[in-house]
Amino acid sequence: MIIFKVGIIPLTQHFSENLISWYQENKRDLPWRNTKNPYKIWLSEIILQQTQVKQGLPYYEKFIEAFPDVHQLANADEDQVMKMWQGLGYYSRARNLHFTAKYISNECDGKFPNTYKELLKLKGIGEYTAAAVASFAYDEPVAVLDGNVYRVLSRYFGIDTPINSKEGAKIFKSKAYEILDEAKPAIHNQAIMEYGSLLCKPKSPDCMFCSFNSKCVAFQQNQIKSLPVKLKKLKRRKRYFNYIIFQSSGGEILINQRLGKDIWQKLYEFPLVETQATATPKPIFDHELFDKLNISNEVKLKKLNPKTYKHVLTHQDIYADFWAVQCAIEFKNFNLEPYKVVNSKSIRKFAVSILIDKFLNEHILED
Ligand code: ADE
Repeated sequence: MIIFKVGIIPLTQHFSENLISWYQENKRDLPWRNTKNPYKIWLSEIILQQTQVKQGLPYYEKFIEAFPDVHQLANADEDQVMKMWQGLGYYSRARNLHFTAKYISNECDGKFPNTYKELLKLKGIGEYTAAAVASFAYDEPVAVLDGNVYRVLSRYFGIDTPINSKEGAKIFKSKAYEILDEAKPAIHNQAIMEYGSLLCKPKSPDCMFCSFNSKCVAFQQNQIKSLPVKLKKLKRRKRYFNYIIFQSSGGEILINQRLGKDIWQKLYEFPLVETQATATPKPIFDHELFDKLNISNEVKLKKLNPKTYKHVLTHQDIYADFWAVQCAIEFKNFNLEPYKVVNSKSIRKFAVSILIDKFLNEHILED
């Protein structure tokens, strides 16, 4: 159990002062907290929207090592950026990160906009990230609102309006500004997020160590478990992916880059047939490559995974199967554009979805 240092905080102090004192005693030492560099702060915030601090830290370090400033990120190859992002998911964030780096490097001479309003105009920067960068790097008095902040505010003030409703957005924003210490927005914002992350946690918060518990409505009224309130999500979309691994007599396979307006844009994968339900082999033969390669639909398809993979995304569930087709031909004799012919091991050099990565970790493709 973590023991928080709380003893010296007088309860009569202002909310923000209490938070900041707690933060100074208990904060985690994280690299993006010891800098005013907007590039590093922006990068860390984009990564942390995707994952927890513990999982995000190695990604942050890897990016900073490879691209110490915005020009180097701007000049990177997009495939390299995607490959380094691999595992974080939500790849549009990586594409926007790269796009914005190029914009700042080429159009702004490498200088980040230095106000909340201007930051908000950049691709991939929403209200949260603009507020984080503006307050942490430039001390602009703007309040951040992330899941941690919503939780602290809804419990402390006893607000049961759903945090993801229009009305909730207004109420929580106004409360966040009410408690913001305008003279110290950077440390105030860090402190309230850290409080939500370490102490006022979603499950089993450490209310006994909380210096606000005597005034916290949720604690006093036994509502900790029911706050914050969130509206239920819409029905999830189910999709069925059938990947086909065409293997040539020379040990090569075919891969394809996803370019449509859909999930996993720009990532690589095996040729795909999407069906309405888990497929029997029949619909799989509809793939254009069977024609292009002159493969008869009498050929044997070998299912490589005994159990269908289920991959959960924000709004959809992907059910995936992987089928191998051994072809007694050489791919170099065919024009297979836009498919790429690669050695079965070199697929590892391409950025792929977590689903494909998981499959590759569990299966060794034959040479
Ligand atoms: N989560 C989002 N932003 C964060 C930050 N700056 N520090 C720690 N956790 C965070």
